[in-house]
Amino acid sequence: MTLFSWKDQYSVKVKEIDNQHKMLIGILNELYEAMLAGEAKEVIGGTIKSLADYTGVHFSYEETLMKKHNFPGYQEHKNIHTQFIAKVADFQDKHKQGKLMLSMEVMNFLKDWLKNHINGIDKKYADFFNQKGVF
Ligand code: FEO
Repeated sequence: MTLFSWKDQYSVKVKEIDNQHKMLIGILNELYEAMLAGEAKEVIGGTIKSLADYTGVHFSYEETLMKKHNFPGYQEHKNIHTQFIAKVADFQDKHKQGKLMLSMEVMNFLKDWLKNHINGIDKKYADFFNQKGVF
């Protein structure tokens, strides 16, 4: 079962970043399946860690590219990334301590955040990067 499916309309017109977004969506779907299957805490914890780790890799990639090309929205975008990383780290800690059960509420929060971020703030750099020759 899939929580979130990639659609071409989510493209930010930079191939590597689209691929990274697909990867993030894939990890989110794995987490959803683990929740539905009632997987053990360690298994779910491992998938939350994959999500946290890959989110960090992806955000760094975008931030490095924005900085390299002097994208004017860099700082605002980076701040939003930092807030989300803190939120996922908080989920991770609470889950480790047994204070957070994965629920549809948590899954929907992650899905909506990612979908809105890709379709909102990420798309703001699409034309800018294309103009710099980054596709
Ligand atoms: Fe694709 Fe700004 O994260």
